[in-house]
Amino acid sequence: MKDFEFWTPTKIVFGRDAENRAGSLLKELGAGRVFIVYGGGSAVRSGLMGRVERSLSGAGIAYELFGGVRPNPYLEFAEEGAEKARAFGADAVLAVGGGSAIDTAKGIAHGVANPDKAMWDMWTGAAPIERSIPVGAVLTIPAAGSEMSDSAVLTNRALGIKRGVNTPKNRPAFAIMNPALAATLPREQLAYGACDILMHTLDRYFTHTKGNPLTDAFAESLLTVAMDAGAKVYDDPNNYDAMSDLMWCSSVSHNGLTGLGAVLDFGPHRLGHELSARYDVPHGVSLTAVWRAWAEYVCPEEPARFARFARKVFGVSEPDDVKAAKQGVERQTAYFRRLNMPVGLGGMGAGLVTPEDIAFMAERATANGPVGNFKKIYFEDAKAIYTAANQA
Ligand code: NZQ
Ligand code: ZN
Repeated sequence: MKDFEFWTPTKIVFGRDAENRAGSLLKELGAGRVFIVYGGGSAVRSGLMGRVERSLSGAGIAYELFGGVRPNPYLEFAEEGAEKARAFGADAVLAVGGGSAIDTAKGIAHGVANPDKAMWDMWTGAAPIERSIPVGAVLTIPAAGSEMSDSAVLTNRALGIKRGVNTPKNRPAFAIMNPALAATLPREQLAYGACDILMHTLDRYFTHTKGNPLTDAFAESLLTVAMDAGAKVYDDPNNYDAMSDLMWCSSVSHNGLTGLGAVLDFGPHRLGHELSARYDVPHGVSLTAVWRAWAEYVCPEEPARFARFARKVFGVSEPDDVKAAKQGVERQTAYFRRLNMPVGLGGMGAGLVTPEDIAFMAERATANGPVGNFKKIYFEDAKAIYTAANQA
């Protein structure tokens, strides 16, 4: 195990009707003027927004609504939000939705607290984020884990770059998680979310760090529970118990716990972000489209780690490590297929991916140096992985 720091300050309020606590939780933070950020309207149509507004009014909190965040949210929209939130005099931001609304809310909060800094400079690290205002979340989709994570991902449309920034200032002050709210999700969104949840732990689990039994066990348990729950809610979004499991997995998979004390990889995420930046495919799609090609490419670095994964997560009994490793990748791939997720670039629904596209994305992914750690992925490696995924 390597040295680590672990800080998850997010207060979780989990269960039925939890959204009615929004007002009192904001009041606990000392907020009086709250900027509410949401997406394309699912929260309004379901009646959730009305309940949130009543909760804030009941607590004597003034608020302003800012809707229209789209999946793969963009920087320019967060900048617009920051300007409006500043004009409103916001002292807290409340996201109602999923990763896209929450990440936009994080950007707005940083923008409000740092009027002197360009938002993209905060994302590239050129202007470190030293202060912010509190963000709360009412989560409506188990997926990105932004409700507890230290990350926020925005796309700079002018540059065509999708990038995350990691800072403790990204940790939300609270997250309200009512699994019943996710029952209105379309099945494909449930699949994208379940696969993103898995990937947050897979991207931590494939590591050469040794002597880390508790973290390994957390990760293996999370993968097992999330896969079971993901399949159940895919078949029946009204399965409250399974949705509860999946929603909690969403947060724990990305709050740091499943990779504590380990060198993290996150290569598939970095390769996937290029796909979303170029083709605007949903985040979950971008991940499963490259994962198998990535896994087959990096597995020779330490087949024993993949063999352990196969045995612990899928119960594979094959004694030979190389064969067991292969079976593990096949079983994971079969799971993605079970949820109708693509396991190659052709299944993304984005049309033809040319060798020129692949070279472009490989160059972008590795522009700041190699990505990943299980095997460091340089330009030629990224090209080989995208090419293999394109032939799958
Ligand atoms: O916009 P609305 O109308 O709300 O519809 C959304 C959206 O179309 C819909 N939806 C959400 N809850 C619903 C619902 N529809 C019906 N009923 C509900 N209860 O689902 C669609 C997707 O929403 P989105 O917020 O985009 O999903 P997700 O949570 O998967 O977030 C994806 C974004 O998060 C980033 C991704 O890259 C992507 O941009 N990520 C953020 C991370 C972080 N901050 O820690 C980590 C992740 O790795 C990821 O990169
Ligand atoms: Zn993700």
